[in-house]
Amino acid sequence: MKSLIRKSVLSVNPYVPGKPIEETKRQLGLKEVIKLASNENPLGTSPKAVSALKKSLSGINRYPDAQGFYLKKRLAKFFGLVPENFVLGNGSDELIDVIIKTFVEPDENIVTSETTFLEYEIVAQVNDRKVKKAPLSYFKYDLNALLKLVDKKTKLIFIANPNNPTGTYVTRDEVTQFLNTLRSDVVVVFDEAYNTFIDVSDYPDSLSFLKRKKNVIILRTFSKAYGLAGLRLGYLIASPELNAYIERIRQPFNVNMLAQIAGLAALDDNAFLKKTRRVTLEGKDFIYRQLSEMGVGYVPSIANFILVDVGMDSRKVFKSMLGFGVIVREMSQYGLKNFIRVTIGSAKENQRFLRVLSKVMKGDKR
Ligand SMILES: Cc1ncc(COP(=O)(O)O)c(C=O)c1O
Repeated sequence: MKSLIRKSVLSVNPYVPGKPIEETKRQLGLKEVIKLASNENPLGTSPKAVSALKKSLSGINRYPDAQGFYLKKRLAKFFGLVPENFVLGNGSDELIDVIIKTFVEPDENIVTSETTFLEYEIVAQVNDRKVKKAPLSYFKYDLNALLKLVDKKTKLIFIANPNNPTGTYVTRDEVTQFLNTLRSDVVVVFDEAYNTFIDVSDYPDSLSFLKRKKNVIILRTFSKAYGLAGLRLGYLIASPELNAYIERIRQPFNVNMLAQIAGLAALDDNAFLKKTRRVTLEGKDFIYRQLSEMGVGYVPSIANFILVDVGMDSRKVFKSMLGFGVIVREMSQYGLKNFIRVTIGSAKENQRFLRVLSKVMKGDKR
């Protein structure tokens, strides 16, 4: 059997998604389970999106609009750009694949960081493309270390900003210097899946980089702040010249009809976005304070999750917390053996997380 499979597929370490709530309930016989493992929106979905979806359900006998005309038009208005600046994807995950396929030749390589979003490397491997990874510096992308890895065969750079799973970010000045130093024939992707949660003033305005530099791509998603993870909708922003090629690679109907309708409505739902931001930032402060009181270390984050130093085998902590009905993410797959990553949830969920963490760190089991 194995001889039938492409070598690069044999060596792939598949992405491990956060454990689903239903599966956990079933396997452990639990009634009340909370999931703080996939950086989803604890408030649910934008009510405007839900209402638009309800009205559209009967239309799904038709194929979706292959061009995403209305959503691109709305995004263009939102950003003060033109529709050709956007390519829609079945989640931004899909766009990572499409970007690699568009730009990277078989003998070229991709540069990114260690301890970052695993999909960059997994998708590159599946596409038989080589990835070079620079170490983080104090849990943060080290752009100078990335530059050192760039060779004449480097075509693409992925920068998760903020980074998942650390929640750290590279600043405007760091990115400016990086782009000024980098060769102009390398494409730089700023993956900004968590941009809506940012509460710092030195975060880079990547749109201004895009306006100045042709080879910049910005990745965004509706999965987090807009609460549409289950529908799969992401987009990239790049120059119309690049996008004309990127559009050739995606599947014609990659973004389903409901995702397009929901995205369009969610973009107009300022109240939902504002509440999501408020709940997340308040929750972050609360978790920080409680962790400090417990004497537990964490990495300050500008995203909707926190990397927590549990000081012991995170797989064991994960398993014990699961027993109490709290799903978090253990970080051994990222090389952070003593860390868990927790999504900032609702106030009630955050309290339960902290209660259970405290029990588990004292050795309690269920
Ligand atoms: C940094 C980063 N990029 C991209 C994604 C993928 O998001 P999507 O749901 O749009 O595929 C995630 C999701 O966790 C992420 O953390």
